[in-house]
Amino acid sequence: MKRVDDFRLRFGKQEVVPIIVGGMGVDISTAELALEVARLGGIGHISDAMVQDVSDRRFDTNFVKEKTKLYKYNIDNADKTDIKFDLGRLAEATMLHVGKTMESKRGDGMIFVNCMEKLTMNAPRETLKVRLASSLDAGIDGITLSAGLHLGSFALMEDHPRFRDAKLGIIVSSVRALQIFLRKNAKLNRLPDYIIVEGPLAGGHLGFGMDWAQYDLHTIMAEIVQYLQAEKLSIPLVAAGGVFTGSDAVSFLENGASAVQVATRFTITNECGLPAKVKQEYFKASEGDIEVNGISPTGYPMRMLKSTPAIGSGIRPGCESYGYLLDANGKCDYITAYNREVEAHPNEKNIVVMDKTCLCTHMRNFNCWTCGHYTYRLKDTTHRLKDGSYQTLTAEHVFKDYQFSVDQKIALPPGPTFA
Ligand SMILES: Cc1cc2nc3c(=O)[nH]c(=O)nc-3n(C[C@H](O)[C@H](O)[C@H](O)COP(=O)(O)O)c2cc1C
Repeated sequence: MKRVDDFRLRFGKQEVVPIIVGGMGVDISTAELALEVARLGGIGHISDAMVQDVSDRRFDTNFVKEKTKLYKYNIDNADKTDIKFDLGRLAEATMLHVGKTMESKRGDGMIFVNCMEKLTMNAPRETLKVRLASSLDAGIDGITLSAGLHLGSFALMEDHPRFRDAKLGIIVSSVRALQIFLRKNAKLNRLPDYIIVEGPLAGGHLGFGMDWAQYDLHTIMAEIVQYLQAEKLSIPLVAAGGVFTGSDAVSFLENGASAVQVATRFTITNECGLPAKVKQEYFKASEGDIEVNGISPTGYPMRMLKSTPAIGSGIRPGCESYGYLLDANGKCDYITAYNREVEAHPNEKNIVVMDKTCLCTHMRNFNCWTCGHYTYRLKDTTHRLKDGSYQTLTAEHVFKDYQFSVDQKIALPPGPTFA
């Protein structure tokens, strides 16, 4: 019987354990988690989502404070189009976050950064170019392009000296999205080094509509394997979304995948950035406590716990401090929804907004409890303690369980057994 450790993901001469821990913004996939995965010989992701805030928390910088001060005059203004990112400061924060992480890297694995196109930051092209270039400058091993089709992202990096040496990959959820990406980038003569195929059971934003349940990762993988064979393209495929056990991973590795990308099982590890209380919410969740809804202003459906404080919260848009989701015209669907409710309830102090959420502020405060479909199975991966709470795990334990387990087994951590 095969186990994940019988396989390797190869980039030229370099080989890694074929386990990739996916990017989880905002700082849920911390540098600590990514570093641990790299130490164990896999690939860990950090995320550049809200990087200025992440830098402030990690390094005591003042990026957010300074931006808030600059735009303080606008806080009561319903129009947020004035709010821009200083590209130099954005580069600085990215260099710090990525650079300091890379300096600490040990072991044979790699560290990639997850870069979401939907963080349009009121100047999509300019800010994305800076984010990509700064990560490359700071020595990142690879960049995973996510949350968007990224049709122009390779071109934005084309002149960078590391364009052909860094590992560059893209997340897709359909063969069609992949075809469009490859067609659009054909003239650059540079294929992606890996393709992450993310199915409908993943956490975070989904590359599907609200009919996500009709899709299945094995089927999408098979379509993409077939397409690449027909095109005579040899690009490693990475299966993601709902890979919960080592055996689940093997079933993909035996059918055309070169690696798997996982996240949910790492959300309750000590190294994960979620607060301890939120980890317990994930453990406690039952299947019925999880939903896919449309409250993200990005327009993509997002999976989360139904009890997430972000749902129905009518806080004032936090763009003066953040503003990562402002589109090319300085608009965000949450601002529109919030202004509509304020206008409809002029004397109401506590505004309720049901259809959208202020994702920047809520992700920043860990109040948007996005999670994978199988979050309800996390309780089966650990021990319940005397006080009713669940024991968190080490990333090493979860990584090795994926790497070595067989027969759909999940190894419990050493620890108390008061079930
Ligand atoms: C809490 C959480 C946050 C996530 N945030 C992001 C993100 O910011 N960007 C992204 O591309 N994917 C994000 N994802 C998706 C993961 O990187 C990964 O591809 C997917 O969840 C793997 O499936 P699994 O969670 O079933 O293992 C997130 C997943 C989780 C569970």
